[in-house]
This record gives sequence, structure tokens and C-alpha cells, in this order.
Amino acid sequence: MATQPITANQAFTYRRSPSATEAFEAWLKEHGQELPKHTHPWDVSRSDIYVEDRWQPIFAEMRAKAPVNKVTGTPYGDYWNVTTVQAIQHVEALPDLYSSSWEHGGITIGDPPEDIDPAKLEERRLPMFIAMDRPHHTGQRRTVAPAFTPGEIEKMAAEVRMRTQAVLDSLPWGEQFDWVDKVSIELTTGMLAILFGFPWEDRRLLTFWSDWAGDVELGLARGLEDTRFEILSEMAHYFQRLWMERVGAPPSRDLISMMIHSEAMQHMSPQEFMGNLVLLIVGGNDTTRNTMSGIVHALDTFPDQREIFENDTSVIPNAVQECIRYVTPLAHMRRTALHDAELFGQEIKAGDKLVLWYISANRDEAVFKDADKLIVTRENARRHLSFGYGIHRCVGARLAELQLKILLEEMHERRMRVRVTGKAERVRANFVHGFRKLETTLEKF
Ligand code: HEM
Repeated sequence: MATQPITANQAFTYRRSPSATEAFEAWLKEHGQELPKHTHPWDVSRSDIYVEDRWQPIFAEMRAKAPVNKVTGTPYGDYWNVTTVQAIQHVEALPDLYSSSWEHGGITIGDPPEDIDPAKLEERRLPMFIAMDRPHHTGQRRTVAPAFTPGEIEKMAAEVRMRTQAVLDSLPWGEQFDWVDKVSIELTTGMLAILFGFPWEDRRLLTFWSDWAGDVELGLARGLEDTRFEILSEMAHYFQRLWMERVGAPPSRDLISMMIHSEAMQHMSPQEFMGNLVLLIVGGNDTTRNTMSGIVHALDTFPDQREIFENDTSVIPNAVQECIRYVTPLAHMRRTALHDAELFGQEIKAGDKLVLWYISANRDEAVFKDADKLIVTRENARRHLSFGYGIHRCVGARLAELQLKILLEEMHERRMRVRVTGKAERVRANFVHGFRKLETTLEKF
């Protein structure tokens, strides 16, 4: 949290560089040899397998031989790989046994540095209900959930469509450009800015912050955690300022104002309010962004499936589900066992870390036939686990689906075929799964 007192009109400079990737790459040049090594063949926390897109056979082997297995001595300590649909649903259905709480380690594979002072840790924590257990989770989720009901989402559709049309109409035809920058980032940040009333001119800060917030591997780069904390403090500062501006103003249609003026909000501390605001805006950012990039990459990889989409708009709702399955924008969530338990024949001990690999479950052949193929008419595409499962299942799922459906509809309306004609650079991470750059060219179909 920001440590200095804040007033609504206070001038403050927010840094916009370096990006998390630039900072990490610079760090690697100097300290690469200090990075702990991944030696276990099933240690899938190594980020090279995601950036090089060669994680599939490792998970396939685990699913076949040992769907729940323990790896030890990794840079992220010891952890259990949970790799199938059935096993992940089982774990997520027992939230009182398998905790999401930050107190036990939170929701990603990374842990805070062992030598960090607990007071410093508490100071650095932004409370978010994704990293809370019942009953706190229940109350806070209930506060924001009304903003995401089907009725509320429908009200957002017109704005989302207008924004999508404007972005697609601004693109050059027949000339190579980066889809990530011009479409995925532009659309996601623009839409979040509209829906939350986030200042338009600063919308790219959302990408900057969400990349610093979501980069789990930065935790291994000793020395960068202070920079990360400072940047996330600036983010908290910015949101606190927005909150202060809105709290005294009459209710308006944006989601921040709706949250401030809701009955349930009265019971949340300003810090919790801020944490949850950040969760909503930042959590909805890189996930949706990477799906928008992943969709065009997937359609380009499977031209037969692109043809089905181009010939028949009625497949779009199912194609959205299938693309979300195929892309899996968040590779994992983590849980920590609170008691000893048996899990699919394995003995889990209290305190053990379990990593739920959605990226693997979404390729589970027991549920998805030809799972490595994109099949836009796949009957059970909706069974994907990209949004998680159980009490923490993504609150923003319907909003994400709406944005992606409208994107495909508007691409179709313009008879827009997006060809990957240049570099496709993936994110180097074991948590956020997606593209940093995707060089594309538009053709008419
Ligand atoms: C394709 C896009 C998205 C993906 C893949 C995604 C994925 C996820 C996942 C995996 C979880 C955790 C589920 C679990 O632990 O079982 C989650 C939770 C959450 N997501 Fe999303 N998300 C997306 C978009 C969004 C959007 C657009 C928003 C908000 C505007 C959002 C807000 C949240 C919140 C608030 C939670 C916490 C829910 C809870 O703990 O009860 N997400 N999301």
C-alpha cells in the first residue's frame, strides 16, 4: 500500500517503464547464473517450456502415469502437480481443506522470500478475495458479484461493441502489425477503462501494472522484489485517488461508483476495497488480452476451423468456449493443504503446496477428445477449467466471454481474416500464459 497520505487532487508521477519483462531480462543478463535450476523432469514451473511452447508432452506423460505427483527441490520448493480435470475439480470442491488464503501461501506457485520480515510482508499485502477462504471470501465476493449478473453484462454489451468496432476499424489492411499491441491491449484496457471509469489517457498503465503483478518468476529474481513493490504501491495509490474522487460524488454508472454505493461495501475497509478493485481491473486484464491474441493464433494454426467460423456465425458462442479452453490464459492456481488428506491415492500432508495445472486439465483426453486440436464445434468445450471451478470460479467469466464473442462477431462482420505473418513471441511465465507479440496481416475472406 502507498505509505503517504493521499488527497483527491494530489499530483503524483506514476512510472510507466521498465516493463516487468524488460526489468527481468536486464536482471537475467547480470544475474542469470544466480537463478536456481530446475532439474526434476516433471518440474513444470520452468518458464522456458511455456515461452517455447513445448509443455504439452510433459503434462501428457504426467496425466498418463501419475495425475497427482510430487516434485521436490525445485526453485519454488516442493509441490504437488495436479493435472487432470477430475483431480482439479476434486481439490477445488474442498476449499476448507485446500486453502487459497494468502496466510498459507496464496494462489500462485511462488512464495514470499523466506527471509522477509513478516511486518514487511503484511505491509506489502493488498487484500483480495481471490486469496481468502470462507467466510471472508463469501462476503466480499457477494459484494462485487451483482455487477456481473447476466442482466448487468447485457447492459455493457453496447459499449463493448462500439469500442471493438472502433479498434477494428482503425487497423491497416494488407500490412503487418502487432495484434497484441494494436488489438488485444487496446481493446482490453479500453474496455476496462470504460466499464470502471478509469481515466482514458492512463489506460496503458493497466497493462504495465498487471504485468508487474502477474509475473510470478520475478519472485526468483532477488533484488527486483523491491521495484515490484514500489510499482504496485503506485498502482494502489492511483486506485486510492480514484476511490476518493468517486466516494464524494453522486452515484454514476461505472463499476467503481456502483461498488462504492452498494450496501455491502459499507462493511469493507478502504484497503480491502482497493485490493478488490485491483483484483477486478488487473485480473480481467492480461487474461482477456491473452485470449484475444490466442484466438487469432489458434484460428491461424487450424485453418479448417477458421473456415467453419468464416462460413457460419452460429458457431461463435461455442468457438469462444473452445478458444478459452485451447488458450488457457492462466496456466495454474495454487492451493495449500490445511490438514493431512488422501488425494487419488497420494498422501497429502498439512502445509503441502498443490499446483492445479488448468493448462494440463484442458488437454485431458479423458474429457476432451483430440484435446491438442482446436475444434470450434466441440460439444463439451464448456467443460474447460480456464475459469477455475467451485467457490472461486472466475467472477468476470461472463464479461470476458462477452468481449470475446463481440470480437469474433465484429471480425466476421468485416470479413476479417487475421493471418500470423511474422513473429509470435510468447510470455515467459508459468502463471500468465499468452503472447507478448503477434505479428499479423489482415486479409478479406
Ligand atoms: C479469459 C479471461 C479470464 C480468465 C481465463 C480468468 C481466469 C480466472 C481464474 C482461473 C480464476 C481463479 C479460479 C479459481 O481459483 O478456481 C479467476 C478468478 C477471478 N477472476 Fe477471472 N479470468 C478472466 C477474466 C476476468 C475478468 C474480465 C474479470 C473482471 C473484470 C475477472 C475477475 C476475477 C475475480 C474477481 C476472481 C476471483 C474470484 C473468487 O476468488 O471468488 N476475471 N479468474
